[in-house]
Amino acid sequence: MSYDLIAEIQKLKREKNAVILAHYYEDGAIQDIADHVGDSFQLAKFGQQTKADVILLAGVVFMAESVKILNPSKKVLVPDMEASCSLVKGSPYDQYLKWREQNPSGIAVTYINSSAEVKSISDVIVTSSNAQKIIEAIPADRPILFGPDQHLGRWLSKKYGREFKLWSGSCEVHVLFNAKRLHQLIAENPDAIVIAHPECDESVLAYAQVIGSTSRLLEEVAKNPAKKFIVATETGIFHQMKKSRPDVELIQAPVADAGCNCNDCPYMKMNSLEKIRQALEMLSPEVTLEEALRKKAQVPLDRMMSIAAGEPVSWPTAFVSP
Ligand code: 13P
Ligand code: SF4
Repeated sequence: MSYDLIAEIQKLKREKNAVILAHYYEDGAIQDIADHVGDSFQLAKFGQQTKADVILLAGVVFMAESVKILNPSKKVLVPDMEASCSLVKGSPYDQYLKWREQNPSGIAVTYINSSAEVKSISDVIVTSSNAQKIIEAIPADRPILFGPDQHLGRWLSKKYGREFKLWSGSCEVHVLFNAKRLHQLIAENPDAIVIAHPECDESVLAYAQVIGSTSRLLEEVAKNPAKKFIVATETGIFHQMKKSRPDVELIQAPVADAGCNCNDCPYMKMNSLEKIRQALEMLSPEVTLEEALRKKAQVPLDRMMSIAAGEPVSWPTAFVSP
């Protein structure tokens, strides 16, 4: 069954001149049919640079929206329009706008895990893989508003010794890792290296030797000679880790409820090969954005791309409410 489905997807890809981009949290079978697999920054870049007519983003909707914002002439598809993110759901536009209006002199640094509307009232977008460069580029005398992920924001704020005003959102998957049980697991596996995504709570991050984006964690497993890793991020990433290091033992960091599979992101895991086939056949569901909104949301994304490329940028002096 799977063989035919994969052959059908490849055929549709050729017919429609489509490219498939997949996030590291997707099922292994989806990662294996993708033209590019990456973290959220890499996917935005691949999407911006591709010559294909159609981009199918096997990830979550905010990732596909970012590609559409950066490369509007392309048809951008998702396998399932319901594939959201708890950070997007936890940062409604009206409330985010109010927050910005209450802090007009602050620079709004917004995680890419946000809606296009929230991006449109932000000054710069960050991902876990470029956040450090971006924080370093913000003038030291400007206050920073950071949202919607409080854990990534708190980690960066401590790292740079800069006070951030934090939005209180979190990732429903990463907050489940449990520090007490992790402590116990480390005691049972003293030879293991603990690696964690910065969306985890600081009590979990305190145990990690390496904290970083999905691509950074993969890089660590690939290059670190250790034979055992405790991994505090979503389970999909194990697929590439096992490919690059079949010789190592990978242990999922524990959650409070030992019996649950709650480190599968329910949104990432809404996608399937069959939904990908259907989306390519029907050229739907398609991500569309009003041009006025798209243009406004492009400003902070372009600023992110420029800083990541080492180019100088200018900052607005104060927030002007739309
Ligand atoms: P990365 O940018 O590190 O891939 O993270 C995306 C994400 O959604 C983590 O939960
Ligand atoms: Fe959002 Fe968390 Fe899923 Fe990432 S893992 S897409 S942050 S809910």
